[in-house]
Amino acid sequence: MMVPGSPIPDLEGGFRRKDLLGLAELSREEILHVLHTAARFKEISEREIKKVPTLRGRSVIHLFMEPSTRTKTSFDVAAKRLSADTFAVGGSSSATSKGETRIETARNVEAMRPDILVIRHRHPGSAALLARILSCSVINAGDGSHEHPTQALLDMMTIRDRLGSLEGRTVTIVGDITHSRVIRSNLHGLRKLGAQVRVCGPPTMIPPGIERLGCRAYEDLREAIDGVDVVMMLRIQMERLGRKGQLLPSEREYANRWGLTLDSMQYTRDDVLVMHPGPINRGVEMAPEVADGPWSIILDQVTNGVAVRMAVMYLLAPKGGSLARDDS
Ligand code: CP
Repeated sequence: MMVPGSPIPDLEGGFRRKDLLGLAELSREEILHVLHTAARFKEISEREIKKVPTLRGRSVIHLFMEPSTRTKTSFDVAAKRLSADTFAVGGSSSATSKGETRIETARNVEAMRPDILVIRHRHPGSAALLARILSCSVINAGDGSHEHPTQALLDMMTIRDRLGSLEGRTVTIVGDITHSRVIRSNLHGLRKLGAQVRVCGPPTMIPPGIERLGCRAYEDLREAIDGVDVVMMLRIQMERLGRKGQLLPSEREYANRWGLTLDSMQYTRDDVLVMHPGPINRGVEMAPEVADGPWSIILDQVTNGVAVRMAVMYLLAPKGGSLARDDS
């Protein structure tokens, strides 16, 4: 179990990255360094005054070109708890709705001299593209069906809070595997931390050859969740199915075969942990009694999201701050 306030293990050379684009590129040591840093930052959100001066004078711009509740709010809360100034761009009120490209928008936003740009965009590779042309740090808050690195980091932190370590644990991820950026980031992260990963869903939603990424694929939910430590349910990505809507069985069939219900919970361990990145389609991928039941650590994921995003921004931002209380 990690103790908030415990020393952060040394990472040879420190966390020397300009950007956080995905977990494919992070080493096991870098992932652990972020998680240990997040464990220290978590304590700040338990204080009466939830603010430290660590990023005072730094600016963070949130550029969200796709809807978000958890990620956007969590980045904003995290930045403000570190005393950074935050600004939001995107959506129907921005010039993107007049046809401005993401590169043009990003260049104009960077001309305002932010230290960090947090971007969510529907196109895979958007964050990497901006990271190449901008000099500020870029954090990928979800690029199409590619990666969602801070989601996987908070998922791993939440599992480690409960189980101590991911080494030798088995995690089953259920749902629309093809279109999920959450699975891609989790696959990289979970495997680097020593977990075994199973994926499960309609065969039309599991990419052929997924086993090459180091997981086992299942069609049968009961078989997939039998004996595992964690079951992570995914949202069906309706917005990414488009004309491929035929890949999805009817919602009713999906709920019957791949939905996590009190009935299917009989096939799991009693102490299994149930997760979901949100937003949940209650009654489709998960029954309300399971989402709100004793196995669920879904709201712990949200709480840890703030700590993980504080850690990531702290590690990427130009240094000079501390974890001290803001007593000034
Ligand atoms: N988990 C997640 O990315 O949720 P939002 O879409 O609400 O940010």
